[in-house]
Amino acid sequence: MKILVINGPNLNLLGTREPEVYGTLSLDMIMSELQKYAEELGVEIEPFQSNIEGEIVDAVQKARIDCSGILMNPAAYTHTSVAIRDAVSAVKLPCVEVHLSNIQDREEFRKTSIIAPVCIGQIAGFGANSYKLGLKALVDSINSN
Ligand code: DQA
Repeated sequence: MKILVINGPNLNLLGTREPEVYGTLSLDMIMSELQKYAEELGVEIEPFQSNIEGEIVDAVQKARIDCSGILMNPAAYTHTSVAIRDAVSAVKLPCVEVHLSNIQDREEFRKTSIIAPVCIGQIAGFGANSYKLGLKALVDSINSN
């Protein structure tokens, strides 16, 4: 089973970007920890990061070919992107949305996700652990269907 892991804009700056909000781990560190956890779960992950909305749409569409599901931190596009939502909806792959920070406990504009309603669930607020929790939930859901 292969899971595409999508990271949206500015997540390439993790480690130095607002560490008081997003922690001190770089994206590479988070993805390599997730890789180890994926091995424990017996699944393969394919990490992907882009700052460009259309590239994320393309990645979601390509996942149809060889992925069983998508784990996605859409970052700022969470709150703005109809295009990414429509892509998730179109490919009909199970998707779990994750966030490092608790988006319900921040600015008003972060409290709404345009993408979450077409995901099977959302996990937010547990730092890098959100990715592990999200991956486990996604894999369990795929295995039970
Ligand atoms: C984020 C939350 C978003 O509101 C923000 O734009 C991000 C990161 C998170 O992981 O907490 O870039 O998705």
